[in-house]
Amino acid sequence: MAHLRGEEKSAYVRSMFQRIAPRYDLLNTVISGGMHHRWRRRAAALAIERKPRGDGRDQTRALDVATGTGDFVLALLKRGAPHVVGVDFVPSMLGLADAKARRRRRRDRVTLVAGDALRLPFADAAFQWVTSGFNMRNVADLPLALAEMARVASPGGRVVILEIVPMTEGGVLPRIFRWYFRTVTPLLGQLLAGDREAYAYLPASVARFPDVEKLATMMEAAGLSDVRHQRVGFGSAAILWGDKPG
Ligand SMILES: C[S@@+](CC[C@H](N)C(=O)[O-])C[C@H]1O[C@@H](n2cnc3c(N)ncnc32)[C@H](O)[C@@H]1O
Repeated sequence: MAHLRGEEKSAYVRSMFQRIAPRYDLLNTVISGGMHHRWRRRAAALAIERKPRGDGRDQTRALDVATGTGDFVLALLKRGAPHVVGVDFVPSMLGLADAKARRRRRRDRVTLVAGDALRLPFADAAFQWVTSGFNMRNVADLPLALAEMARVASPGGRVVILEIVPMTEGGVLPRIFRWYFRTVTPLLGQLLAGDREAYAYLPASVARFPDVEKLATMMEAAGLSDVRHQRVGFGSAAILWGDKPG
């Protein structure tokens, strides 16, 4: 799977998430020791702190790209976004997001859309806040995915990314994390989701992913300004945010 690119990579990722969708939330919680919720809450707060300048309806909308089971959508609503659109290219993930939003009685403030992060089905400048959690590693064309997020953000809006990042530093902690990801994560995938391959893909995709500094540079190249980042999870994940000029 390491060599996959373009449409082949997209097809691989789509079928993998289709397979693991029913167990996705459970595995997230077990693998991150429950920390993933805290990270999304932090990322949502960093998005929403960027207030809209106008009072147009569209300017108070948020978009969560590759929304999966919708946790980022709910975090954005909780932080004060009036309405959130979630987009994903796996229908069963959207089904789970729909059920979760209903259970939390938030369905009326959520729109779920089938679509590709590389061709977002939205007009330019349609959203004040654009987020994406744990998916930049999976896209077949990272610069294009970032450019799409920047395109649909309104001038003065904010783009926020939450991602697991490579721990390239020496030292005991990064070594423990690398071992955990390479050895324990696939085992948990096998035991809890019956899918070792999907959870062996996770550490492999992290290892190939750019480090935080490079990712920040790529966000700037995509048209975002003032890109900053914060590491979370003892450095194993990072939140990056940048603003759409204008
Ligand atoms: C690791 S999950 C992340 C889900 C969610 N964002 C979260 O915070 O838990 C990745 C999600 O991205 C979706 N995805 C991957 N590539 C995509 C693409 N090119 N377009 C739309 N969705 C995509 C998958 O279907 C999956 O639901």
